[in-house]
Amino acid sequence: MLNNASFDALANSYDNNFTHSIIGTLQRNKVWKYLEENLDGNKAMNILEINCGTGEDALWLASKGHQVIATDISEQMIEVAKQKANIQKVNINPLVCSFVNLATDLNGQKFDMIFSNFGGLNCSNNQELTQLNIDFAKLLKPKGLLVMILLGKKCFLENLYFLLRFNFKKLNRRKQATEAYLSHNNFITTWYYNYQEMAKIFNLFQLKQKKPIGLFIPPSYLEPLIQKNKLLLPIIKRLENAIGNISFLTNYSDHIYIEMKLK
Ligand SMILES: C[S@@+](CC[C@H](N)C(=O)[O-])C[C@H]1O[C@@H](n2cnc3c(N)ncnc32)[C@H](O)[C@@H]1O
Repeated sequence: MLNNASFDALANSYDNNFTHSIIGTLQRNKVWKYLEENLDGNKAMNILEINCGTGEDALWLASKGHQVIATDISEQMIEVAKQKANIQKVNINPLVCSFVNLATDLNGQKFDMIFSNFGGLNCSNNQELTQLNIDFAKLLKPKGLLVMILLGKKCFLENLYFLLRFNFKKLNRRKQATEAYLSHNNFITTWYYNYQEMAKIFNLFQLKQKKPIGLFIPPSYLEPLIQKNKLLLPIIKRLENAIGNISFLTNYSDHIYIEMKLK
């Protein structure tokens, strides 16, 4: 079960292990490419980022002139985000706040966009997401945007990897909730979703766009494999550029990008 401290142990190493890794960088660049299509260059948007982690996206958005409130349940993640904001001299309004407290802690504020990157919402089950459908609708301006990036259910590259290793037990492991290892004695239940399930849960929103994030860019636990076999990188990039943007392949990628508009 997730508590405030679950992700604390990861905070200081998160940027080294994921944000600045090859896989983390490639996947985030894809998210930014799609996100950028929604950012009006001339208009500063009011953005609520949830599960912001170490603030990498919040800093990027704020550096583009947008007003960001960057929230996360983990005090340590928010601490790292604060330090980065101080060093980069960018204002991101960091706030320790769990999903369940968003509606009360930010009551009365209205945003142009709510943004959740890289699987924070996979820590919530169907029932919790159903409540967030209502809470997000209250926090958004009319026609406000909801952009969510989650771990998908049918990651094709993961299944190929397990198949090649004859690890049949792990094939399609994302069909059920799993216990993901965070740190010593610290596991977190992870639920996986496809875009149709998210569209059904977030029924106060209209699905605008869906995209694969990492059809050929593998899950982050395969970083050592990529580091060892640098020749794979140009192949991955080429395949990702050629086929990795096709919307109907969304559910087969590591992460799925979902963009919705408040009805
Ligand atoms: C995999 S990290 C993603 C961090 C960041 N968005 C990024 O792009 O690197 C997941 C984050 O979700 C946060 N999180 C998980 N459950 C949460 C909850 N119920 N409320 C707020 N944050 C949560 C964790 O603390 C963690 O920082």
